Amino acid sequence: MSHLCLVTDIKDGQAKAFPHPSPSEDRDLIIVRRGLNVYGYVNRCPHAGTNLNWQEDEFMTDDEQYLMCFTHGALFEPDTGRCVAGPCAGAHLSEVNLEVENGKVFYGE
Ligand code: FES
Repeated sequence: MSHLCLVTDIKDGQAKAFPHPSPSEDRDLIIVRRGLNVYGYVNRCPHAGTNLNWQEDEFMTDDEQYLMCFTHGALFEPDTGRCVAGPCAGAHLSEVNLEVENGKVFYGE
């Protein structure tokens, strides 16, 4: 397992990008934090394939309820990666398996 960061490196309710540990993946990995839980996704929108963010670590809506793709405005649930509004409603972000041990976040392969 690859150590990625500490849970506390990500502000609660926010998301942060990290280089994807898999050599076969050229996109960053997004880690979303909800309290002590974290969720990981590949930074690739299922609509047109762009990065979700347009500025560094700008992934969340202002109310921190959804991840947002800034290209066409798709909204994704932070804990499932499911698109709930926008041009790819019903599609999912590609999930990355993360594990947390003693406050450390690991890439679960
Ligand atoms: S590329 Fe993300 S909503 Fe179109």
